[in-house]
Amino acid sequence: MQIAVGADHGGFPLKDEVIRAVTAAGHEVLDLGACDATPSDYPDFALLVGRAIQEGRADRGILLCGSGVGASIAANKLHGIRAGLCHDIYSAHQCVEHDNANVLCLGPRIIGPALIAELVTAFLNAQFTGEERHLRRLAKIAAMEKSG
Ligand code: RB5
Repeated sequence: MQIAVGADHGGFPLKDEVIRAVTAAGHEVLDLGACDATPSDYPDFALLVGRAIQEGRADRGILLCGSGVGASIAANKLHGIRAGLCHDIYSAHQCVEHDNANVLCLGPRIIGPALIAELVTAFLNAQFTGEERHLRRLAKIAAMEKSG
């Protein structure tokens, strides 16, 4: 898969760790910045990653900000983006299997490089099950998205 990666200054310190984990899992990286730790705004990177997925330039995305919270709030404003802030392994794969998440959000001010690498691997290895109950719930989310 093609994986879009974006990080603000709070996420930048562990962006390379994410890129290493994506590559090690056999996927390609679309690096959308930031390129250094200069203060920046996490919604800008959420937009870049979200647009890459919406436009078919990426299959999934990984976003980093200090806590992961701001990035997830911003990404979930975009049509068709289902972003999960996951700091445990179960959530990192279950968000794909049940919720068809297409963006993983991480907070390097909260967790360290070893866990980040494992979370990325769990997220990328997971596949949506497509079970009826999950499709039904996702359809309800899509309807909420449409109704504003
Ligand atoms: C930036 O200081 C910080 O607010 C941001 O990276 C993120 O943690 C927001 O949720």
